[in-house]
Amino acid sequence: MKGLLLAGGHGTRLRPLTYTGNKHMLPIANKPMLMYGFEHLRSAGIKEIGIVLGPLQEGIIDSFGDGSKFNVRITYIEQPDPRGIAHAVLISKKFLSDDSFAVYLGDNLLKESMPKLAKEFQDSGADAMVVVSKVKDPSRFGVVKIQDEKIVKLVEKPKQFLSDLALTGVYFLRPSIFPVIETLKPSWRNELEITEAIQSILEKGGKVTYHTVSGWWKDTGRPEDILEANQLVLNDLKTSIKGNVEDGASVYGSVEIAEGTVIRRGASIRGPVAIGEGSEIGDEASVGPFSSIGSRVKILGAEIENSIVLDGTTISCKERIMDSIIGKNSKIVSNLNNRSAVRRFVLGESSFVSL
Ligand code: G1P
Repeated sequence: MKGLLLAGGHGTRLRPLTYTGNKHMLPIANKPMLMYGFEHLRSAGIKEIGIVLGPLQEGIIDSFGDGSKFNVRITYIEQPDPRGIAHAVLISKKFLSDDSFAVYLGDNLLKESMPKLAKEFQDSGADAMVVVSKVKDPSRFGVVKIQDEKIVKLVEKPKQFLSDLALTGVYFLRPSIFPVIETLKPSWRNELEITEAIQSILEKGGKVTYHTVSGWWKDTGRPEDILEANQLVLNDLKTSIKGNVEDGASVYGSVEIAEGTVIRRGASIRGPVAIGEGSEIGDEASVGPFSSIGSRVKILGAEIENSIVLDGTTISCKERIMDSIIGKNSKIVSNLNNRSAVRRFVLGESSFVSL
């Protein structure tokens, strides 16, 4: 079985964060989002992974390389325009050749056993297997209608309620999908929809099975989704302290503090919190639950909660910052000496905020 990891698209809903970088490389608990899908495919014993790239490729090839450091062979496939998941599969036909394959949308995070899913698909002999999860807002997704434990219909972004079981971004397919995709017409959003291709397999009498996620699933299209994904991953954080926690600093709960990081006396860290390398949490600063702080970050005086702060950023103020995503190499400074109301930010790379 091969793997196809999709990392194209423009990430418009995540602007300004995606003006300067690929959304798939945004960190979740200090690890690029795309790495989660990659590790998942790898965990299923997949040794050949294709990564479909859009125009924003920054950091992807640098991080993944040819795959040898992960003991996997990586092939990069270019998709200059975001023309849909089925289009991405079609342009990867040469790489996928006559193998069965797993397609994984790079902006999806899933807590589920991939080896189990892969085995279930292989054992079923089905033409396609989709992975589904119950959602509150099905009109944002592709959905499947089930009757007597069988899929009877798949619809992309249904206008009328059909079912609350959404298609997650994980699909198991076989080469029999290629001729079906070739007959597809672009949808209203000018994409070739994989949902329509799988519906077409069903209409032609093909076998389509499904697996319901037993853990959790998160599609990270919007900033609030990124923060929620960060919470879900941090929930499983194991404590590891490699940096220096000075006497008089307080550290509670599960925390990951990487090498070269200093937690100054008087600072407080309340887990789950992940802090990268070479950072400094100064006296009077406090980093609260569900925060991921990158490498070379300085937090002086501020109180941070439920937020993601990317590499190289300095926050030097007496503010309370919550539910925020702060891009790389940014600066937030203030001369105020008393804590004000809570601040919320979604700041792109190299932002400067003076309060
Ligand atoms: C895509 C699929 C949709 C699926 C979703 C999962 O939607 O078209 O069927 O439910 O991914 O993340 P998009 O993110 O392109 O709107």
